[in-house]
Amino acid sequence: MCRRIQCRFLIVVLIPFSFYAQNTSALRDSINRYSYADFLQMKKTLGIEQENRPGPSGNPNDPNSANFDESQVHEYSLPSLLTTQSGMEVNSVADWENHRRPELIAAFESEMYGAVPDDIPSISWTIKSEKDTVIGGIPIREQHLIGTVDNSRYPKLRVAIEALLGIPKKSNDKAVPVVIQFGFLNSPFGKVEEPRSFFISPFEPGFKQQLAHQGWAYAVLDVSSIQADYGAGLDAGIIGLVNQGQSRTPKQWGALRAWGWGASKLVDYFDTRTDLDSKRVAVEGTSRYGKAALVAMAFDKRISLGFIGSSGAGGASLLRRNFGEMLENLASPAEYHWFAGNFLKYAGIKTVNDLPVDAHQLIALCAPRPVFISAGSAKIEGQWVDAKGMFDAAVEAAPVYELYGLRGPGTTDFPFMGTALTSGELAFRQHGGGHSTGPNWSTWIAWARRYWD
Ligand code: GCU
Repeated sequence: MCRRIQCRFLIVVLIPFSFYAQNTSALRDSINRYSYADFLQMKKTLGIEQENRPGPSGNPNDPNSANFDESQVHEYSLPSLLTTQSGMEVNSVADWENHRRPELIAAFESEMYGAVPDDIPSISWTIKSEKDTVIGGIPIREQHLIGTVDNSRYPKLRVAIEALLGIPKKSNDKAVPVVIQFGFLNSPFGKVEEPRSFFISPFEPGFKQQLAHQGWAYAVLDVSSIQADYGAGLDAGIIGLVNQGQSRTPKQWGALRAWGWGASKLVDYFDTRTDLDSKRVAVEGTSRYGKAALVAMAFDKRISLGFIGSSGAGGASLLRRNFGEMLENLASPAEYHWFAGNFLKYAGIKTVNDLPVDAHQLIALCAPRPVFISAGSAKIEGQWVDAKGMFDAAVEAAPVYELYGLRGPGTTDFPFMGTALTSGELAFRQHGGGHSTGPNWSTWIAWARRYWD
């Protein structure tokens, strides 16, 4: 009897699960197939016939494993930060702002992240629903925001940016700072409530709670509502809408830039509200969302602070350093959609050394605005993200901050794990947890208070 019930229970549970699993894997297969077709199409447009070089494996036991040994890092030479293309030495903020910064912006746009098109249709923001809630004992007003992009030019596609905004209710009518988290509210594979890393201790207060205690607001930006996270989606989302469903040209934006653009649109909207202080907006994200947060901040001068988590290659870590993830991984069918099509060249007909830019310059584009670069423990997170490559990039970016009379990490020695280098405008800390910003929130907040109090 008991057995029969168990058996029925298993049938009820397993049959729908196996349908779900089959459908999910069929969906994955078709996404991979269409992504690959788009990848090949872009290579064709670029006239690249040869196979791209494959990236190394992230598994240290694989024969083609990435380098995880500091003694095997080759010498590399970075593209200059403070010499313009015409050979002019940059010695002042004015030279940086008027000459070198615009040149670097143009190079990042053309060769790496792509440019935001001029003719993006307007967005209208509405509050879809709102509710009162309590987080860590603090009353919060949560609003589900929708930013609907005008699609009258191409009604076949609809783009509605989603974000969850939470504002502490005890703000005494003063406009409060807000931290935009690049994340997700929905996933194509089911509803996800709030991403929570496996690596954060259950005793670590969540970021919403920590921000609420400061009286600061949070806004979780659902990146997939802006642009899907795969190549097969490039003919839809905001990229596809602007291109009216056609494929990208090689200089057009990739997903990282599109996600960053979405954050900028949220800042536009915050600017229209009296309860939020659009002069005190930070961006935060981990991994691919950490890359997106850094890209957003580099291109949008209104973003006041950054919290860039484990962003690795394509984010804060130096691409020319052969450690962990390499450019060839980024320019593969699984990740190329984060970038402009032109970026594919550097894993085929060219190499990383031909790329006119590297991560230190991306960080420097944020100057004078403070950036906190975060990583986890090598033992728990692994070394794919190359924490030292991110630290070295911050060190290399410091001269631009110094032009403004500000400070970089304050040392060129890679700090012992857990050390908070927070005395300057380029902060760095490797926490003891995994692939998350989680255990660094309190350090970030203490540092951010210097600027937001
Ligand atoms: C992969 C990818 C990384 C990325 C990470 C993530 O590991 O290679 O570049 O940061 O996924 O976003 O989780």
